Amino acid sequence: MTQVSPSLLSANFSCLDREMEMLNASEASMIHLDVMDGVFVPNISFGFPVINSLKNLTDKPLDVHLMITDPGRYVTQVRDCGASIMNVHQEACLHLHRVVQHIKDCGMKAAVTLNPATPVSSLVDIISDLDMVLLMSVNPGFGGQKFIEHSLTKLRELKTLIAATGSHALIEIDGGINLETGRKAVEAGADILVAGNYVFANPSPKDAIAALAAL
Ligand code: DX5
Ligand code: ZN
Repeated sequence: MTQVSPSLLSANFSCLDREMEMLNASEASMIHLDVMDGVFVPNISFGFPVINSLKNLTDKPLDVHLMITDPGRYVTQVRDCGASIMNVHQEACLHLHRVVQHIKDCGMKAAVTLNPATPVSSLVDIISDLDMVLLMSVNPGFGGQKFIEHSLTKLRELKTLIAATGSHALIEIDGGINLETGRKAVEAGADILVAGNYVFANPSPKDAIAALAAL
């Protein structure tokens, strides 16, 4: 079984309660929430008040992906709005080690996200401290983009780094995931698949989630 983290970014925002009911009844292992600030990425999505409301609608872990500058400023707010996993971009943190420790001290799982052009080797000195690494397989900011094939090489490199260091970090991949790219990603070492467009553009989102979970 592969873990699936459906991205709410592609959901129908006018009926989030119904979308959450669907996710609750699905095989999703967690729910991926994309926060964008219009500075780190060229788009703005939603923030803490929305996540705060969502937390009351599910028992599934909230996998919060912060596409914002200096996310270390918001660790306690992210915890207070119910996140189980806090994903911060390597590129957005000047003092990544401090931010990771703060996330863990607040009782959340710490995940570091890498943009497509950021090498896996940039994690060598932090990998043992991480619960998860989120590899971006598109440039962050928008749903529905095409999977960047080079991400498969990065997945294999990351798998090797994790094995070599004895890290317990799980590998999550985000962007352009469908049945075909999802299968390749799982073969290359991904533990968790994020999927937005593939899930919510499907006539049966629940079946789409089940199909990814079966990979
Ligand atoms: C992109 C976000 C993704 C996005 C994935 O910046 O981080 O989580 O929702 O969407 P798809 O699966 O449509 O590429
Ligand atoms: Zn994301």
